[in-house]
Amino acid sequence: MKRDFLNLRDLSRAELEDILRLAQQLKADWKQGRPHPLLCGRVLAMIFEKPSLRTHVTFEVGMFQLGGYTVYLTPADIQLGKRESVADVARNLDRWVDVIMARVYDHRTLEELARWAQVPVVNGLSDRFHPCQVVSDCFTLLERGYDLHSLRIAFIGDGNNMAHSWLNAAARFGFELFIACPEGYEPNGEVVAAVLKEGARVTIGRDPAQAANDADVIYTDTWTSMGQEAEAEQRRRAFRDYQVNADLLRLAKPTAVVMHCLPAHRGEEITDEVLDGPQSIVFDQAENRLHVQKAILVWLVQHNPHRRGVL
Ligand code: CP
Ligand code: NVA
Repeated sequence: MKRDFLNLRDLSRAELEDILRLAQQLKADWKQGRPHPLLCGRVLAMIFEKPSLRTHVTFEVGMFQLGGYTVYLTPADIQLGKRESVADVARNLDRWVDVIMARVYDHRTLEELARWAQVPVVNGLSDRFHPCQVVSDCFTLLERGYDLHSLRIAFIGDGNNMAHSWLNAAARFGFELFIACPEGYEPNGEVVAAVLKEGARVTIGRDPAQAANDADVIYTDTWTSMGQEAEAEQRRRAFRDYQVNADLLRLAKPTAVVMHCLPAHRGEEITDEVLDGPQSIVFDQAENRLHVQKAILVWLVQHNPHRRGVL
């Protein structure tokens, strides 16, 4: 069966651990100048319906470092679902490329791409999940010597795509996750129910202080995600008490780290003082997107039954 990476739940814990180990190897190879052209002659199509800095650059640089090539497709190029159906785009692309990565508004677009493409499809962010980011964040925590299972992670803010991927990660890696969000901005009920059924140690509450109390990790994300710009003012009001600032950080363990997927909206969900402070590891997270995505790509190509010849 073809494997995709639309959601952390597409992979078992053991498979995710394989990817994390591979990422560690690839990062060491890169740092020590050891060539690792594992995807020589392979091509990644990158579909972007939304803007991106980190995801775009790290997939592109990652393929280059692996000896592969990328094709960048903007909405203006292919007009996914308008000029041509999602299914037909998938059935064309898979004749030419080895992997498709897409950043989309509607998660169902990814599911449709994956259904029709014979090559693996990677979620580069949808309205529902951002799995590449969270695997990379887990890698960053492991790199700092944390045992994921014993962590207490506080997610402060919107019950959005990031929160959903953290919920899925809690089910896979066993850490304790406390999400604090205002009324009306809770994570999706189905996502929560699915992970609770798997025994995830998850609490959803209203109080950021309760979430931050004794936490090892304080995580936050923008109050207004891409595509929600029309709600920005209303969201600013709703999330006013959900800022990650020095007062909140003081409630966490003294050794706690602060994480953010970026881009940050300084002065809204996080203060400059915290983002630029000694406990912040946000740029390590960004750096590791590169190494983890390389591992995801290599793993998917190796697990694709429709592998073709290479250069
Ligand atoms: N964190 C993240 O995915 O960043 P971009 O939106 O810049 O890709
Ligand atoms: N929740 C944010 C994440 C950006 C990486 C968004 O979807 O815009």
